[in-house]
Amino acid sequence: MALPDTAVSSVKREFYDELIGQAGALLDRETDALANAANFIALLYHSLAGINWAGFYFYRGGELVVGPFQGKPACVRIAMGKGVCGTAAQRRTAIVVPDVDAFPGHIACDSASRSEIVIPLVEGDRLLGVLDLDSPTLARFDQEDQSGLERLAATFLERTDLHHWPA
Ligand code: SME
Repeated sequence: MALPDTAVSSVKREFYDELIGQAGALLDRETDALANAANFIALLYHSLAGINWAGFYFYRGGELVVGPFQGKPACVRIAMGKGVCGTAAQRRTAIVVPDVDAFPGHIACDSASRSEIVIPLVEGDRLLGVLDLDSPTLARFDQEDQSGLERLAATFLERTDLHHWPA
């Protein structure tokens, strides 16, 4: 018997609550940006089911440059406004893409990717980068994932000193 939508979303919410607790503990007492970014992505990649790529792109010199990630090698630089990442960064809003083939300008790094979610990292009025997750399953990410990943990204930013990274 399938669970009703409300039950599915409450299970997801509890899953993200727990993951946020784990992320907080993992990043506790360490503020180094590279160390925290690498550990944070490893936690996400190994905790979330059905993803084939998870990583950061950081905003450097007016474009996005790939940071710590797990998955196949990816494109290194993405211009603002290009692809899902550059679009989310420019708009400074999260983008959930149920079918990457239907997103104009999607940049295919891993041909296995079928759906994607990108969460911008913004502190005050400063764009710091984006968090990007890909899945080999169509429509893998929903509003509950968006909300959970936004909370996770906020946990990462609270505990990590990105201020000395070049902008
Ligand atoms: N698909 C992204 C590019 C990054 S990879 O997914 C790792 C995009 O369209 O921006």
